[in-house]
Amino acid sequence: MHILVADDDPSSQYLLATMFKSRGHLVTTANDGREALELARDNPPDILVTDILMPVMDGYQLAREWKTDDDLSGVPLVFYTANYTDADDERFALSLGADKFLFKPLDPTILLNEIEQILKLSSEGHLKAHMPSDVNDTDVLKEYNARLVSKLEGQLLEVQETRVDLETTVKQLSEMVDGAVTAIAKLVEARDPYTSGHQERVSALAETISRTMTGDESFTQGVRLAGLIHDIGKIYVPAEILSKPRRLTPAEFSLVKVHPQVAYDVLASIAFPWPIADYIVQHHERMDGSGYPNGLKGEDISLGGRILAVADVMEAMSSHRPYKVAAGIDAALDEIEKNSGHFYDSEVAAACVLVFTEQGFKFPDAAASPLIQSQG
Ligand SMILES: [Fe+2]
Ligand SMILES: [Fe+2]
Repeated sequence: MHILVADDDPSSQYLLATMFKSRGHLVTTANDGREALELARDNPPDILVTDILMPVMDGYQLAREWKTDDDLSGVPLVFYTANYTDADDERFALSLGADKFLFKPLDPTILLNEIEQILKLSSEGHLKAHMPSDVNDTDVLKEYNARLVSKLEGQLLEVQETRVDLETTVKQLSEMVDGAVTAIAKLVEARDPYTSGHQERVSALAETISRTMTGDESFTQGVRLAGLIHDIGKIYVPAEILSKPRRLTPAEFSLVKVHPQVAYDVLASIAFPWPIADYIVQHHERMDGSGYPNGLKGEDISLGGRILAVADVMEAMSSHRPYKVAAGIDAALDEIEKNSGHFYDSEVAAACVLVFTEQGFKFPDAAASPLIQSQG
C-alpha cells in the first residue's frame, strides 16, 4: 500500500517511513502540509499519516483541504501527533474529517496495527466515511486558532523546560570546574601546606579587585579560579626549598622561578572557559618587563595576570613567611602604591588600595592556615 507521511521533524519522519517500509509499504514523505497536498494530488496515496504542528501548512489546514478535495476526500487521514495534545484537539481533528487521532509516541506494533486496520477497511470499502462536520468557515477558523494557540503554548512550555534543563547543566558544569580546580589545588597543598592558605587568600583578593575594576562576573570567576591554583607549579620545586626558614640562594631561587611555567604546562591543555593558564604563567611578570618567566611588559601581560600579580604580592607581604615576619597590610599597600605603573598595573594597584581602604577588604580568616607561608 502507498502511505504518505507528513511530518516536519526529520527523525520522526524517518522512523515512520522505516517502520512502514519494513512491512512492505510504499512510503512517500512530505515536510509540511502544502508539500503533502501537492504530492497527493500528483499521486494519491492509500492513506495519509500527518503531524499537526508543521510550517507552511499545518495538519489542520491540510485536513480541511484534503476532505474538500474530490480526489482525496475518500483517502483515509490519520493524525499522529506529539504529546502536547488534548481532547479538544482530537475532537477538532475528527470534526475536520480525520479517520483517526493517535498520540505520539506510540508502540510501533500498535501504530502499525492501527494504520493497517484502517488500510484494510478502506480497501474493502468498509471504512466508515468521516466527512467534515457541517460547520461554517468562521467557526472552523475560530476553533482552529484556539487549537493552534494551545499547541504553541505547549511548545513554548517545552522550550522553557529545555532552557531550565540547560541552566541546570551549566550550573553542574561550573560546579565540576570548581571541583576540578579544588582537586588540583589540593595536590600542592598535600606536599606544601603553606601554599594552600596563600592561594585561597590571593584568590579572594584577586576576585574582589577584578569585580571592582571590571564588574564582569564571568571574568571575575576566571580570575578567582586562577588565584586558587596560581602556585601549583611549586609541585616541581623541592619541598625543603619552599619551607626554608631563610632567604634563598640564587640557585635555589632559580628553581622557584620555574613554577609559573610548570603550572602553564600542566594547565594549558585543559579547556577552561577562561585562559587561566595565561593568567597564571604571568603572575610574576612586572609592567616594566623585570618579571619572570618571560619578561613581558605592560599590556602584553593579560589583565588576569596583572591582577594576580598585585594580589600575590599583597598577600605575600602581609603574611608571615618561613624567612621573615609579615610586613603587614599597610606596608604591603605602600609597596603597591610606590611601584604602581612600574611593577604593577596602575589601575589594578588603585583598585587594590580601594578594596582595602574603602571596601574594608580582609583576607579570609587565616586561623585554618599555617603561620608561615611559602616563598613566592
Ligand atoms: Fe608564585
Ligand atoms: Fe603566589
